[in-house]
Amino acid sequence: MDTTIDWGKLPFGYYPTDYNVRCEFRNGQWGPIEVSQSDTINIHMAATAIHYGQEIFEGLKAFRGKDGKIRIFRLEDNARRLQESAKGLLMEPVPTEIFREMCLKAVKLNERFIPPYGSGASLYIRPLEIGLSPRIGVKEADEYLFIIMVTPVGPYFKGGFKCTDICIMRNFDRVAPLGTGRWKVGGNYAASMMPTHIAHEKGYSAVLFLDPKEKKYLDECGPANFYAIKDGKYITPKSDSILPSITNMSLMTLAQEMGMEVEQRHITVDELESISEAAACGTAAVCSPVGEIDDLDTGKKYIIAKDRKPGPVTTEFVRRLEAIRHGEEEDTHGWCTIVE
Ligand code: PLP
Ligand code: COI
Repeated sequence: MDTTIDWGKLPFGYYPTDYNVRCEFRNGQWGPIEVSQSDTINIHMAATAIHYGQEIFEGLKAFRGKDGKIRIFRLEDNARRLQESAKGLLMEPVPTEIFREMCLKAVKLNERFIPPYGSGASLYIRPLEIGLSPRIGVKEADEYLFIIMVTPVGPYFKGGFKCTDICIMRNFDRVAPLGTGRWKVGGNYAASMMPTHIAHEKGYSAVLFLDPKEKKYLDECGPANFYAIKDGKYITPKSDSILPSITNMSLMTLAQEMGMEVEQRHITVDELESISEAAACGTAAVCSPVGEIDDLDTGKKYIIAKDRKPGPVTTEFVRRLEAIRHGEEEDTHGWCTIVE
């Protein structure tokens, strides 16, 4: 294990590791899986990735358990979502087997960077796929590069598991109504940078984006999905313009197991008046509890956590998720892949 890292203080940032794993699609087929020690790539200056945004990615995590075993959370679901993103941008889908083999390799080769049990940190796995072929006309590539890099990370929102405030603003959209929001496309994040920067400058941790068509319903919360607890029910937006979060899917299952009703439906902005908890959920965010939601256009403030403490449901979600990922609770859903 790397002894120079202060695991408990790791930010959610890039920390160099020893190896990354690569595979290229050329002449109609995926080539051999290659291990690289370089953290740069050499691509054609006219590659579709850098001109026309043929770039998709994923995010998942590996954890060191109480029993010393390493577990990767919901690997196949991330592989499937990357395939959906690829189809959305006319890119070549990476077969699940290649995705799995490369993930396991990247994690094993960088084992010394997997944070110790109890540190609160984890190994973030970032798969990405880019179009390589040179194009000046707008057309998809026929050659692709798929890379898996890993980096040890701490909490996404500063301060870890405590309430942060988020805001609603209507003068920016991150995606179009029938656009690329349902896929994990780099361009979606480019479009979110300006509103997110404005939100940060005003002291908010993220923007709660509204549906881009009517600006009536809640969509998602920066780089995470949104859920709330209303009359004891788990409610979360149903929308064509949000990423189907694997964390959110997991929470819906846990909520049902905890005896809660789950509603995936349109949620209007004014419903924020009557919720008892809210959080941003995702691989990076885990469940980040929300203290207050401010609508910057109307001036309305929705106080969610009066005492600024994470609510009981969110606290229990995090406890259960962490227990499953660290091998302290039985993985009854088969969510974890153990790295042998
Ligand atoms: N929504 C967006 C826009 C994201 O970037 C992410 C992060 O991956 C999520 C939601 C959460 O998805 P997941 O739980 O699969 O990480
Ligand atoms: C993740 O949660 O894995 C994400 O992709 C968020 C990231 C954009 C910071």
